[in-house]
Amino acid sequence: MAPLIGSLCSSHVPAIGRAMAKGLQGEDYWRPFFQAWPPVRQWLGDRQPDVAVVFYNDHGLNFFLDKMPTFAIGAAPEYHHADEGWGIPQVPPFQGHPALSWHLIEQLVAEEFDITSCQEMLVDHAITNPLQLMYPSQHWGVRIVPVCINTVQFPLPSARRCWALGEAVGRAIRSWGGAEKVVVIGSGGLSHQLDGKRAGFINRDFDLAFVESLVHDPQWATQFNTLQLVEKAGTQGVELLMWLAARAALGPGATQRHGSYHVPISNTAAGVLVMDAALEGR
Ligand code: DHB
Ligand code: FE
Repeated sequence: MAPLIGSLCSSHVPAIGRAMAKGLQGEDYWRPFFQAWPPVRQWLGDRQPDVAVVFYNDHGLNFFLDKMPTFAIGAAPEYHHADEGWGIPQVPPFQGHPALSWHLIEQLVAEEFDITSCQEMLVDHAITNPLQLMYPSQHWGVRIVPVCINTVQFPLPSARRCWALGEAVGRAIRSWGGAEKVVVIGSGGLSHQLDGKRAGFINRDFDLAFVESLVHDPQWATQFNTLQLVEKAGTQGVELLMWLAARAALGPGATQRHGSYHVPISNTAAGVLVMDAALEGR
């Protein structure tokens, strides 16, 4: 049984990649954001995961509006970053874990999730941001399995469906025969809206309630439909579905180890939440 050791949920913003490339971590604007990460790296150093299963949303680099899977899983030996148009320097490729990817795909399809399997996949800032923050040297300490959830083109999967997906991914990880230690990552959110009349919208009260719910009442957000989530978190804030799926994968009895919330980074409420799985899961 592969141990699922914990979860790491984080916002992503292209400007984070640029700030790291320019060494701006100590500047007044960036310090409150970056100072949340040494404890995360301490936790990673203690737990030493081998693989990260990353719930994330692509932003038009790998999938575009003409072909938009609701749920897609990477099964590539290697994942490359490419120019996304934000002026972020590209980072070295990430090693995949095709055998675990195919195990997840098989288990999820057997559980009646209709998954798009991707033997080639470009990854954007939603993957590079958390991995760079975890491993600033860019010597990636984990192989990755990307799990992509559409939050770009309507109709989006519901919070309830993303919770169910996350639970199924958690079951699939636990039924993998290998000894690898697996961490699940949720990359996206928190509240933000990049366009339209409410551009710049941030909802601190909702964010804090949502993050709190992941610790004490993790299915809380499944009460909201997609339009309610857009209303509360913003058109791009629906990316918080990644946190929900990651939390669902972790299973019951998880414990918070570290959390931070800071507004804003670019147009986004930036949060991080680290949780350990219940002991029997580890
Ligand atoms: C920003 C946030 C995002 O989630 C994203 O994908 C792109 C930009 C921003 O706040 O600038
Ligand atoms: Fe985003």
